[in-house]
Amino acid sequence: MDFVKTSRTKIHLLYDNHGRQLRYLRLGVTERCNLRCFYCMPEEGLNFSHKSQILSFEEMKRLTSILAKMGINKVRITGGEPFVRKNIMDLIEDLTHIEGIDSVNITTNGTNLIEHLPRLKAIGIDAINLSLDCLDKDRFFKITRRDEYDQVIASFHALMESGISTKVNMVVMQEHNIDDIIPMSELTLTHNVSVRFIEEMPFNGGGKLFTPIKWNAKQIIEHVKTKYPATVRLNDHESSTSHNYQLPDAKGSIGVIPAYTRTICTACDRIRLTPKGELKTCLYDSGVFSFRDFIRKGATDLEIEDQFRKLFSNRAKDGFEAQQREKTNSNSFESMATIGG
Ligand code: 5AD
Ligand code: SF4
Repeated sequence: MDFVKTSRTKIHLLYDNHGRQLRYLRLGVTERCNLRCFYCMPEEGLNFSHKSQILSFEEMKRLTSILAKMGINKVRITGGEPFVRKNIMDLIEDLTHIEGIDSVNITTNGTNLIEHLPRLKAIGIDAINLSLDCLDKDRFFKITRRDEYDQVIASFHALMESGISTKVNMVVMQEHNIDDIIPMSELTLTHNVSVRFIEEMPFNGGGKLFTPIKWNAKQIIEHVKTKYPATVRLNDHESSTSHNYQLPDAKGSIGVIPAYTRTICTACDRIRLTPKGELKTCLYDSGVFSFRDFIRKGATDLEIEDQFRKLFSNRAKDGFEAQQREKTNSNSFESMATIGG
């Protein structure tokens, strides 16, 4: 077993049965959202869990602290939309103080971001992912079923001014936003931003029938190259889920995330905890254990740590195997909002 010396003590790192070290926690803080993106949930929303079924801030902090003792050093706050959860800034700030956690990032739809930016900056949040699927107000409404485009664009510009490192996530959908791929790429000519194109996945909460995608990562890049043939490949970070590129003379970069074709699993260092406290060892499993129930039955920190190790010692090698292990062999009724992105 590996050890790392920290200022505090020796720690046992967390590995899975394929030799991958887990370093990165994606923490879903709420299932709720003020948008209704059709690739994520149906118009009427989801059958949202009662508050008592959702982890409290104390429970989230406890699980994060235990994971930090196992070498997890990065946390991403996801949802649903994180900023619809009451007092979420208090949780975010507390997470930044957990020993061993070097970076806390947030994925948000940007509808309620601006008011929080000064505090986010003050507590040292250094990276934010903004979900934005097009650069057209009407298309935005069709995709999200809400009239919040101006607000989200204002958040984008506020982020650019704030100096917080920003990534924009665009889910690429045949029927909706192919015409936005080039304009979105061109945002990187004038702004220091990373625009990432995500393959659509079948996690739409039953909102629509999922048909296997036509626009995969390869095709998206080829499309960009029809206008910008001098686009170059960049070196990706070791555990990066995106393949990254740069348009000629661009200030920022673009990336493609093969979320559906799943060519990125070999370096996966992610742990997902859903808002209800379910552990997912892969985006494509439907939850392998309820840490909420375990905690509420009185599990000790050591028992929780052992349980994480046990569950990761039986992790699927990739998203295809994880999906196969599911009884139904179909995740199309789950929503990204209950998964935590
Ligand atoms: N397919 C791909 N990406 C999705 N997201 C939400 N639902 C889906 C889906 N079905 C994206 C959001 C957000 C990120 C957390 O996940 O746009 O950027
Ligand atoms: Fe909300 Fe994000 Fe789901 Fe859209 S994708 S409905 S913004 S949680």
